[in-house]
Amino acid sequence: MAPSTSSFVPAVYSSGMIIALTGTPGTGKSTVARYLSSQGWKVLEVNELAKRYGLLKSKDVARDSFELDPDDLQQALVQEGMGEGVLVGHLAHLLDVNMVIVLRCHPSKLAERLADRGWPLAKVRENALAEALDIILAESMDGDAPVFEIDTTEMTPEGAAEATLSILAGENEKYAVGNIDWSEEALLWS
Ligand SMILES: Nc1ncnc2c1ncn2[C@@H]1O[C@H](COP(=O)(O)OP(=O)(O)OP(=O)(O)O)[C@@H](O)[C@H]1O
Ligand SMILES: [Mg+2]
Repeated sequence: MAPSTSSFVPAVYSSGMIIALTGTPGTGKSTVARYLSSQGWKVLEVNELAKRYGLLKSKDVARDSFELDPDDLQQALVQEGMGEGVLVGHLAHLLDVNMVIVLRCHPSKLAERLADRGWPLAKVRENALAEALDIILAESMDGDAPVFEIDTTEMTPEGAAEATLSILAGENEKYAVGNIDWSEEALLWS
């Protein structure tokens, strides 16, 4: 995404905040979340929330994924009474959160990871294209919460987790939106 013309707005985690840890499938959200959890952070996977509240009903067979309505998820989140912590999943940024962290991964590397999961080629390509086109980032920017993005392509899982923690600590200028541009990759995956 092109650098924003608006000035950078720093943000610091404080108690009572819910952070969305989002990104295209395979970017490493759950991996980072496990690390945060081991450090004592309260972490909730959106999929777990959906399961607990009986929202995993209608499956999109062509995409082999469940169709989830963000309004239903928001209702479940309220019912859950999650007072603070990290909400993890590729829909997390669509809920009522106080900060959004988008994990990014170069489309080619992401495609390798998704192929390693045994995903069909069409689904691999769909997600690599979504990453090249900044789809999750753009959706995140539509919300009101401050948004940051981390290019994890060359990071270890621990490195990605440390980068996430440094955003929460307020050292987040280097993760301002606009430094990642994989638009030239889009042709490869479309
Ligand atoms: N920084 C990293 N470096 C190398 N491999 C990683 C990194 N982060 C995650 N992985 C690997 O990539 C794969 C996907 O990671 P993970 O399951 O955490 O992604 P996810 O974003 O939670 O995906 P989904 O949205 O499908 O739940 C896993 O095999 C994981 O071990
Ligand atoms: Mg996950």
